Amino acid sequence: MKLYYLKKFIHHYLSATLIDVLHSPFVFDLYQTTVKKQKNSVKFKAIENSRTNLLKNNEIVSYSDLGAGSNILSTETKKVVKHLAKAHLKPARIAQIIHQIVLKYKYKNIIELGTSLGITACYIASAIKESYHFEKTNFTTIEGIHDVRNIALKQFEALNLSKYVNSIEGDFNEKLAIVLNNYQSIDVFFVDGNHTYEATMEYFYKALPLAHNNSVFIFDDIYWSLRMTKAWEEIKQDKNVFQTVDLFFIGLVFFRKEQNRQHFKLRVF
Ligand SMILES: C[S@@+](CC[C@H](N)C(=O)[O-])C[C@H]1O[C@@H](n2cnc3c(N)ncnc32)[C@H](O)[C@@H]1O
Repeated sequence: MKLYYLKKFIHHYLSATLIDVLHSPFVFDLYQTTVKKQKNSVKFKAIENSRTNLLKNNEIVSYSDLGAGSNILSTETKKVVKHLAKAHLKPARIAQIIHQIVLKYKYKNIIELGTSLGITACYIASAIKESYHFEKTNFTTIEGIHDVRNIALKQFEALNLSKYVNSIEGDFNEKLAIVLNNYQSIDVFFVDGNHTYEATMEYFYKALPLAHNNSVFIFDDIYWSLRMTKAWEEIKQDKNVFQTVDLFFIGLVFFRKEQNRQHFKLRVF
């Protein structure tokens, strides 16, 4: 683990607001219903079984590291799926928080940047399924690597979630603008790929015009590097942003104008 990340984690742990002294009713309610560990994890069993299988999967896929400003030109290598699963997949606890958020606010217009093997997408899709059953929803997830996306598609199919996910293959730099054109507004914008300052700010500003008062933008790995933390701090200061909740592993951004501008840090583990 990188020293910067570890130092930031310790700092976060020591400086996080204790829930008993949390003064914002909105964030207190958010914490109680989405962040606080839920007892009923039985409903997540099928998705977690998929994760377990991916972590044992010895299949080899073609892979290119899609770094900053990628137009998918980086050299292709081979990767074993279980290694990708270990490196990419969000811990169950964090994916379950995202699931609970989608469920609580009955969000339906959702974009995820970075499908990878599809585990968090399954959590999002299952929240949509639970909220709406057969109603048409609008969840799009984008992944740049063909073989990786194909594995995600298999997870959606195996878990009967395909009809709740619109999976797009391609570079965010090209596909995001096209996808945004098909949305009138965004409820959830989840950025989980291309963790650079420049890309993060670019995606934030591209999606911002479609945010509404009750939207949430979720940024992964805000302490991954100094530059990612810089992006997070700048997003917090944006004039359209009213509340943020820093859960260390992910940062939540809200636009609720009826409430004071406030920034919270809460412990997840
Ligand atoms: C951390 S993983 C996503 C994990 C996934 N959201 C989850 O929680 O299960 C990031 C993914 O984003 C993809 N990615 C990164 N940069 C990209 C880009 N510029 N265009 C398309 N995909 C990209 C990578 O290939 C990788 O699969």
